Amino acid sequence: MDSRATFGSDIHLDLAGSRVRVGLERALRDAIRGRRLVPGTRLPSSRQLAQDLGLARNTVADAYGQLVAEGWLTSRHGSGTWVASQPVVAPAAGQTRTAPTGPRPVTFDLRPGQPDLAAFPRSTWLAAARRAIGAAPNESLGYGDPLGLIQLRTALAEYLGRVRGVLTAPDRIVVCPGFTQALALVCQVLHARGARRVVTEAFGYELHRSVIQAQGLRTKSIDVDAHGARVEDAGAADAVVLTPAHQFPLGVSLDPARRHRLVESGTLVIEDDYDGEFRYDRSAVGAMQALATEQIVYAGTASKSLVPGIRLAWLALPAALVDDVVAAKRASGRLPSALDQLTLAEFIASGAYDRQVRRVRLAYRRRRDQLVEAIGKAAPDVRITGIAAGLHVLLELPPGADEDAIVRRAEDQGLAIEGLRAYTAPGHERGPALVVGYATPPAYQFTAALAALIGTLAQWR
Ligand SMILES: Cc1ncc(COP(=O)(O)O)c(C=O)c1O
Repeated sequence: MDSRATFGSDIHLDLAGSRVRVGLERALRDAIRGRRLVPGTRLPSSRQLAQDLGLARNTVADAYGQLVAEGWLTSRHGSGTWVASQPVVAPAAGQTRTAPTGPRPVTFDLRPGQPDLAAFPRSTWLAAARRAIGAAPNESLGYGDPLGLIQLRTALAEYLGRVRGVLTAPDRIVVCPGFTQALALVCQVLHARGARRVVTEAFGYELHRSVIQAQGLRTKSIDVDAHGARVEDAGAADAVVLTPAHQFPLGVSLDPARRHRLVESGTLVIEDDYDGEFRYDRSAVGAMQALATEQIVYAGTASKSLVPGIRLAWLALPAALVDDVVAAKRASGRLPSALDQLTLAEFIASGAYDRQVRRVRLAYRRRRDQLVEAIGKAAPDVRITGIAAGLHVLLELPPGADEDAIVRRAEDQGLAIEGLRAYTAPGHERGPALVVGYATPPAYQFTAALAALIGTLAQWR
């Protein structure tokens, strides 16, 4: 990933006019004040930034020198220029100072859940939007097909078959604004058909459990071991919601024998394939859906592969559920934007989606390797698991470590991390552990974020 480009787009330098150096200084101060550049961020070298912005190197070097003198930046001879750890933060014009109470500002975010937002391919996305919206027939700009636009469903059917082994067709796909809504719609339909009991993994998002319960369904949690969810404990359930490719957040994949056992039980499965594209050490674990297309509801999302702000997810449904899910979606009044669907369809069909996934997969893999190496060196008694895939790992802390205290202390230092307890259903608690998402910080900040994490782990000893 090109950190210079990331840096440039993040600080939104506005350098119009003749007083270029003054403009650059102002843009950097604004970026630091607005926390687009956070303490600890390493700036590109003056030569790099000058090249990126088409300026003379001296102009950039002088601007850096001025900001070092003012205390916004620090420079270490031979090692570069950094945003100062406590820069002078004067309120910007029209901006009031916030009271010193309330939550601590987050300098480094290593919580799971978000990809690197700075890696979103803005110009490729805009080019796809231009082509797709320019060429779209007028009819596709109306309320549109409640399943989702045919262009997107066609592109998804091909993509999901090719990349995730999903056996589906455009008329089985329903496009939704996010997995959470898709889950709610399927549960609503199941409840209307008499379902009452849904099994979920004991480790996962509380939000998803409450979405299921909000449809009038009772949930039961099953444990997860090294082979994935213990599906043999599901009992008489009307449906099971699973993350088979990469359990969230423990990171194991569901063992083939358990996949078959579940299919043989005849229970309906909702397969949450939230980060199936990100597998690093061996070939991807395919989706479960192909084992039983009329029994497994496949759900995918653009929230990890692109960004959550797109708000697009998709279901590949058993034939018997399509009409009811579409009716529920229509009644919800929440239909995704036709313009975004057209753009994503073009983005996938043109190969840009594959290229983006390949690009970020490589960058995330490097981050993961860096993280595993750094923790291995600095904290050898911490066991790292769930590293083969996805955008997060589990750090299992030695017995006796106080998970909550570590999370709180990290918070005090501006490092946002989460403990496993936040993802654990009552009664299934296990030893202390942290769920570390390594995708969220922009590339230029990752090394500093990792150093903050290592610092937190060291302090606890
Ligand atoms: C386990 C899991 N499922 C599903 C999703 C996707 O949810 P949504 O499509 O609503 O952003 C996420 C979030 O990225 C997730 O972590």
